[in-house]
Amino acid sequence: MTPEDMIRSLPDQIGWEDIAEDLAGVSRIVLCGMGGSGIVGDIARSWADQKNFKVPVFSFRGYGLPPWAEGENTLVVCTSYSGNTEETLSNLETALRNGCRVVTVSSGGKLEEMSRERGLKHFKIPAGFAPRYALGYMVSKVLCILGIDKDELEGARENLREGAKVIEEKGKDLAESFYGYIPILYATPLTEVCAFRWKTQINENSKTQAYFATLPEMHHNEVVGLDNAEIRNKCRFLILYDPEDHERVKLRVRITEDLLKDLGIVPEVLYGEGKTYLSRLLHLIYVGDWASYHLALLYGFDPLPVRVIDTIKARLSDISEQG
Ligand code: F6R
Repeated sequence: MTPEDMIRSLPDQIGWEDIAEDLAGVSRIVLCGMGGSGIVGDIARSWADQKNFKVPVFSFRGYGLPPWAEGENTLVVCTSYSGNTEETLSNLETALRNGCRVVTVSSGGKLEEMSRERGLKHFKIPAGFAPRYALGYMVSKVLCILGIDKDELEGARENLREGAKVIEEKGKDLAESFYGYIPILYATPLTEVCAFRWKTQINENSKTQAYFATLPEMHHNEVVGLDNAEIRNKCRFLILYDPEDHERVKLRVRITEDLLKDLGIVPEVLYGEGKTYLSRLLHLIYVGDWASYHLALLYGFDPLPVRVIDTIKARLSDISEQG
């Protein structure tokens, strides 16, 4: 499958299953993963916050687990597309040592193997994708584990299907505006996860640096950096917001737009379309996936390989093998 086929398949990857965990007795949920699998935890956390989940949901990246993640009332969901990411395997080992309840998601690898050995619930997703292009499979599993409603998940899928053409065109236009510049993404609390995905997709697909900052925090630091005309002229700005962001945040979006315009910069401003927060969030993410794909083509890069990530993983595994 080409990267284009994989990106095009995003809506078809989304599907509902009756796999909700019984959350009775669970007092916190930790979603673990890295890179293309780690964003799944951010999306699910953002979704849970919007749903007014009364059980706190955390997205965790790195080795081990936070010190408070212990005991049966902590549910740990370990997601790794390959099933071989060492940080996620370390999360699993720590969770088991700390007596947490654990479920795992992968296309195979050691995560599946260890889950089988330890009698853990493991959810398998199709192999053959690059992790970041399997977002729909992983997000569906994790949201279903958290108990998302069938209509909500399938509604988000239909929203992507219906908007597919326009979404790709928008992504292509934005890629053209980013070409030759450093993309700077300004987000809001409801779109921070989208900006992070845009950044990482531009990094991995387009082999290009990109940065993001989030309102309202960026009104206390980032904006001062705009004083440097020499640097800001090398950047292209995109503001991502959600129609349901806090009114004061939306006001700050308009102020940011005006600030940039006063500096002679016309930023792109974008929100996700759709009836639910999840629909809008995935809509925005999908525009970014296409933007990063088309930006790669404009620069003459193959969007698929992530050579340096593979080199780092190989070096780390050589070192652990030598003891
Ligand atoms: C590659 C990619 C990476 C991986 C990350 C973790 O497409 O997106 O960010 O997702 O290196 O690997 P997995 O997902 O296999 O745990």
